[in-house]
Amino acid sequence: MPTSVVLGTGHCVPERIVTNDDLARLFDTSDAWIRERTGIEQRRWVPDEGGTGGSDLATEAARTALQAAGLGPADVDMIVYATLSPDHFFPGDGCFLQAKLDVPAGVPALDVRNQCSGFLYGLAVTDSFIRSGSYQHVLLVGAEVHSTGLDRSNLGRDVTVLFGDGAAAVVLGANDSGDGRGILATELHADGRHAKVLWTDAPSCVDRGRMTVEQIQARRHFAEMSGRRVFKHAIECMPAALHSVLGKCGLAVADIDLLITHQANLRICEAVQKQLGLRDDQVFNNIMRYGNTTAASIPLALDECVRAGRIRRGSIVAFASFGAGFTWGAAVLRW
Ligand code: UT7
Repeated sequence: MPTSVVLGTGHCVPERIVTNDDLARLFDTSDAWIRERTGIEQRRWVPDEGGTGGSDLATEAARTALQAAGLGPADVDMIVYATLSPDHFFPGDGCFLQAKLDVPAGVPALDVRNQCSGFLYGLAVTDSFIRSGSYQHVLLVGAEVHSTGLDRSNLGRDVTVLFGDGAAAVVLGANDSGDGRGILATELHADGRHAKVLWTDAPSCVDRGRMTVEQIQARRHFAEMSGRRVFKHAIECMPAALHSVLGKCGLAVADIDLLITHQANLRICEAVQKQLGLRDDQVFNNIMRYGNTTAASIPLALDECVRAGRIRRGSIVAFASFGAGFTWGAAVLRW
């Protein structure tokens, strides 16, 4: 049975940098509060005049990833696209990406809606398709445009300071060589009892017309979050998932060469690192520069690590995520 190896990575973020001081001009917050509570120093936002969707960022990220893999759009035989901020209500962004990137007609495009765990859900699905022999080259993308949906008033400040826009892509391919490289194990979880701890109510198919004036007035179209509850579960679930996924492939925490956790809050990343007893050189964080880019956060960090030469052939690379749903998961690869 083939394994799934990463053939290329890429990312794309908007040019516009939004600093903590920029946010402090919009609502009551401060650079000191944001840095201390989240570790974030800046994030990227698409232009306020509109016109840029996640699929535009995803297209650039995918081009870079394909180039790194030595492949072209015609080589892609499946697209898996993870996002919580699709360009439109439907169809899914996978189809928009397919058209913009010029991936041949007929190639399937699957959209994954698992928020901060979207990349890992997509990775597990991709791995299954590749191992079963169904597809040879899968383009897996995580992309978000959060900035158009953030409440830029005092009422939304807890959420708005966290999120940034960005996209990242990974090209995965079948490896039949038997050299032990590839995805070794994945693990996915959800607990829908917490679905409304971090969510956006509107637009909503349970309401006639899907979006009412009352909903807009009540700011139901902006994300709502109980940050402390998310934080508490995140620092419990990610270490547990990592221990479990490592156990599945006979590895221990000490075997990890590089851990990339979902970038939601530097304090969460550091708490996970501490619980696992990992040294600083075994982890990578870039939330300081991008904020929380949700489905894009793990592949964006991965691409930066690849380009900085932090991953060598044979390295053990682990991922863990936690977010809305609640959904969480982990994966381990031999690079
Ligand atoms: O991808 C997964 C999604 N999300 C997460 O993982 C988020 C997880 N949670 C968090 O990151 C943190 O809970 C936050 C960063 C959101 C908040 O940090 P916290 O240490 O849990 O603060 P808190 O919510 O308990 O609020 C402390 C204070 C409050 O004021 P009072 O009630 O103590 O007077 C808030 O009103 O900080 C206030 N506050 C702010 N102050 C300045 C909340 N947001 C802000 C802000 N600037 N942006």
